Amino acid sequence: MEILDLKLRNFRNFRNLNIKFNKNKNIIIGNNGMGKTNLIEAIYVLGLTKSFRGTNENIIITKNENSTKIEGNINGNIKANYQITLSSNGKKAKINNKNQEKLSDYLSKINIILFNPDDLKIIKNSPSSRRKLLNIEISQLNNQYLKKLTEYNHILKQRNSYLKTMYINSFTSKEYLDILTDKLINLGIDIYNERKKFIDKINKLISNIFYEITDEKALVIKYNSCYKDITQEKIRKKYDEILEKDMMLGSTTFGIHHDDIDFLLNDDNLRDYGSEGQQKNAILSFKLAEVEIFNNQLGEYPILILDDLFSELDSKKINNILKFLNKDIQIFITVTDLKYVTDEIKENSNIIKINNGKVEE
Ligand SMILES: Nc1ncnc2c1ncn2[C@@H]1O[C@H](COP(=O)(O)OP(=O)(O)O)[C@@H](O)[C@H]1O
Ligand SMILES: [Mg+2]
Repeated sequence: MEILDLKLRNFRNFRNLNIKFNKNKNIIIGNNGMGKTNLIEAIYVLGLTKSFRGTNENIIITKNENSTKIEGNINGNIKANYQITLSSNGKKAKINNKNQEKLSDYLSKINIILFNPDDLKIIKNSPSSRRKLLNIEISQLNNQYLKKLTEYNHILKQRNSYLKTMYINSFTSKEYLDILTDKLINLGIDIYNERKKFIDKINKLISNIFYEITDEKALVIKYNSCYKDITQEKIRKKYDEILEKDMMLGSTTFGIHHDDIDFLLNDDNLRDYGSEGQQKNAILSFKLAEVEIFNNQLGEYPILILDDLFSELDSKKINNILKFLNKDIQIFITVTDLKYVTDEIKENSNIIKINNGKVEE
């Protein structure tokens, strides 16, 4: 799959941009603060409807403006024109000019794997950032997953508030809680299975990729979930066993919303024992493994975005990675200086120079 062109209106420091892309490699060059990350962020928002930076969605609108519009043509299994507009009235997504009511349906159409310097913290950060990683990636592969996850979170909220009610008022019936618990378990098991399948696939690939980059062997992703290796019956019983505690806390302490993954190198957890370099390479390997999984599962490569990779990793290794990636993948790479990129790669690339929110000819 590839993005052929991009039109931006009031997106961060891009007032007005109209740009065509190469179906293979695109190198975006510019000094710091010029808009390189903004540009690839726009591609990301077009695909996933949300930015990977910040929690306030409106921050992508150019300062002192009311709305932003991103538009692009995608070529691949689904050829179409995609559009996202965001204003204080909310977000709209269009495919071929037709409004899309459900963002969850829109979201699985354009597939993007992004590597950004912020990802380097994933291994050290709290479990929620690792769950987020799983959720974003599995949602792109399977739009039922996102629907189930959304429903799970909705029921979890209801359950937590009902636990609080039960704690305050001992006459509240447990029947309703049981209904919520059963729903939670059914959705939770489906989500658990999807996560497990995905991590198994990652594990078939990641060790080799990590070895290519680092010459170190045996990187494994370990899935930690309280639903692991127990039957539905036992899971159900567990919720009754911890009911008193959960009522007191007003919160559900058991379930897949506590899942986590570990990055293990020769059985050592990289969170505790890994160097910064090992952690970076592990995350990068994870993302590159996904590229293959997407291709196997969807029959085409996702768009791969590598933001600021050269400032983070040894450039010889990156050039190796770029050479070893399949030629059918559309890649966006941002760099501050072309000196990092080998001539061989430069030759086959479209070079886009960014200066203060404008493309230089
Ligand atoms: N909402 C916004 N409106 C206008 N300019 C913005 C907005 N958000 C960020 N910027 C500007 O974008 C620039 C940073 O762009 P960025 O893409 O992160 O740079 P880099 O080329 O280093 O990746 C800064 O100059 C910042 O002021
Ligand atoms: Mg940047």
